[in-house]
Amino acid sequence: EQVPVITIDGPTASGKGTLASTLAAALGYHFLDSGSLYRVAALASLQAGVSDSDGPGIAAVIATLRLRFDGPRLYLGDTEVSEELRREDVGSRASRISALADVRAALYALQVSFRRPPGLVADGRDMGTVIFPDAQLKVFLTASAATRAERRHKQLISKGMPSNIDSLRADLEARDARDRTRAIAPLQPAEDAQLLDNSAQAVEESVAVVLDWWAKRR
Ligand code: C5P
Repeated sequence: EQVPVITIDGPTASGKGTLASTLAAALGYHFLDSGSLYRVAALASLQAGVSDSDGPGIAAVIATLRLRFDGPRLYLGDTEVSEELRREDVGSRASRISALADVRAALYALQVSFRRPPGLVADGRDMGTVIFPDAQLKVFLTASAATRAERRHKQLISKGMPSNIDSLRADLEARDARDRTRAIAPLQPAEDAQLLDNSAQAVEESVAVVLDWWAKRR
């Protein structure tokens, strides 16, 4: 029997991170925020002065990364970068470099290594389709663009960061279009994924639905 994995894939700001980390805590499982790895690759390659279209160059940067996870905190070398990773420019660069095959290949083994007993909840775009195709439960989480822009807006405001909801929504839709139409590992539900639209759902409701699916899994 393989170590259990629940995958949560979906578009930007659909609430994947909150749902996945809450599930991981409820089940006592490990948690993988795969987007943070693309964000770290974006930040480190930006700092190294590597172009966002240079796949082999970024893969080389990834190979030398000294990453450390401490709960929700992520360290690059000795520096905590958790806050910097949330920057909109880092997210947008992450989206651009994530279309490069060399970048995806360079992050593959690291993602797979998170699958350790007693289990894993992994969130991203291709967790159920590419990284953990044999996951015991795959969820594809969606919410309307308006809902997602609203959530991201509130998040930024609460952190005291500037935010404009219209440009946020435009950026979010552009990023999703890029993620959906890219040639490699496009954002799409796995054939055997359960679809969940949480536009009108509180987090606790989504968590309850997924825990119920998990209890009833094959
Ligand atoms: O989820 P998050 O917004 O942190 O991810 C940043 C970017 O990384 C996404 O826009 C997406 O393009 C990319 N990504 C990906 N595959 C994943 C996770 C994230 O391509 N599994």
